[in-house]
Amino acid sequence: MKKPWGGRFREKTSGSVESFTESISFDKRLWKHDIEGSIAHAQMLGGQGIIPRKDARQIVRCLKEIGSEIRSGRFRFRPELEDIHMNIESALTARIGEAGKKLHTARSRNDQVALDMRLYLKEETVRIIRLMTDFQRALVAAATRNLDVVMPGYTHLQRAQPVLLAHHLLAYVEMFQRDKERFEDSMKRLDVLPLGSGALAGTTLPIDRAAVARALGFSGISKNSIDAVSDRDFALEFLSAASIAMMHVSRLSEELVLWSSVEFGFAEISDRFTTGSSIMPQKKNPDVAELSRGKTGRVYGNLMALLTVMKGLPLSYNRDMQEDKHPVFDTVDTLTTGLSVITEMFSGIQFRKERMSATAGEGFSTATDLAEYLVRRGMAFREAHEVAGKVVLYCITRGKDLASLTLKELRSFSALIRKDIFSALDPAQSVRSRASYGGTAPSEVKRQLSQYKKILG
Ligand code: ARG
Repeated sequence: MKKPWGGRFREKTSGSVESFTESISFDKRLWKHDIEGSIAHAQMLGGQGIIPRKDARQIVRCLKEIGSEIRSGRFRFRPELEDIHMNIESALTARIGEAGKKLHTARSRNDQVALDMRLYLKEETVRIIRLMTDFQRALVAAATRNLDVVMPGYTHLQRAQPVLLAHHLLAYVEMFQRDKERFEDSMKRLDVLPLGSGALAGTTLPIDRAAVARALGFSGISKNSIDAVSDRDFALEFLSAASIAMMHVSRLSEELVLWSSVEFGFAEISDRFTTGSSIMPQKKNPDVAELSRGKTGRVYGNLMALLTVMKGLPLSYNRDMQEDKHPVFDTVDTLTTGLSVITEMFSGIQFRKERMSATAGEGFSTATDLAEYLVRRGMAFREAHEVAGKVVLYCITRGKDLASLTLKELRSFSALIRKDIFSALDPAQSVRSRASYGGTAPSEVKRQLSQYKKILG
């Protein structure tokens, strides 16, 4: 097969080099974007009179034909043609001859591949934001269904203060909101047309970059041709936003693993989203949550891989940059499948309300309420903390709970304590009274919920 760049070579490329350098086995994923970009480019070349209009029309017609062949799986990709760009261009020339040879006028694969990657990531970013919204909706629905459930809130994985389960779930809604904002923000820098930068220095031909940007739906045009072909920041931003999002998926997964254990007994994942053991008949394992947690590692790895590829590259394009593909594609796949499966799984989770509520008051989780009660009665917080700490120690040595103490016992620690202390020590009351902005009180949580219902539609 004749190479589009074969002119200055005397010898044939070695077979091992062909397999070492090819990217068609994986960058064929960019076919749709490559064709879309080539169509816009050809139309601009025709419009500017750089190539005859009828050649441009012929190119466009044939590119569409190639596109539908690829879509239906009838197109034969050739590894000796290296990548998606040369595969499509060679097919074009093989079919329409002279006119096809004009497509690559005023263009290089360097600006072409940057364009394809940007078009691809724009599409995937929109899809990922949508998947995140779906997941947020699933979290909001679960929060709404469980609005009355009080559970132990944790710090250091030690029982800390009672909270509403809905409040805990809404914490994840916040995280995914920030993730969406990160992806949306990255769009500003992604949504920039690199085509028209040529190999690195621009072109002598009278191209119209604004027309190409309009045709492809880009809101900006790159300002420096050297930067445009050297830049993979947009891919790195995508990978870092994806890494942070996966970290959130992973933390939630970790909680689901913990919560579905007998030790916690807070949640039951439905049979459809769990797997069994080949030896232990009783097992029901939270593999989906575990794999979501586990796959986070490769997404981080993908970010590190591309950062490392880019760190030593002199300007402008270097072939090393072809190594952006695997990390980006793998991250797209891992994040999108992870988000879809966890969203589905979430709608089938049963929370064990009784168990959560029963444990919410254990472990002296209302000790802070006792201290704040004393503050309301006029004691300085540091002192109140000390008194409540003494009460806890008293309970520990006698194997008692805060709520099981008598008023007399409590008053022996401070005369400020009255009968109304018992409602302060009740976990449900504790939750109700944490009504500070963003706090766990049902009034606050309901407000947060209704805001999200509006935002998420
Ligand atoms: N397959 C290449 C890549 O992904 C396309 C650009 C090749 N450019 C070149 N000058 N060899 O980066």
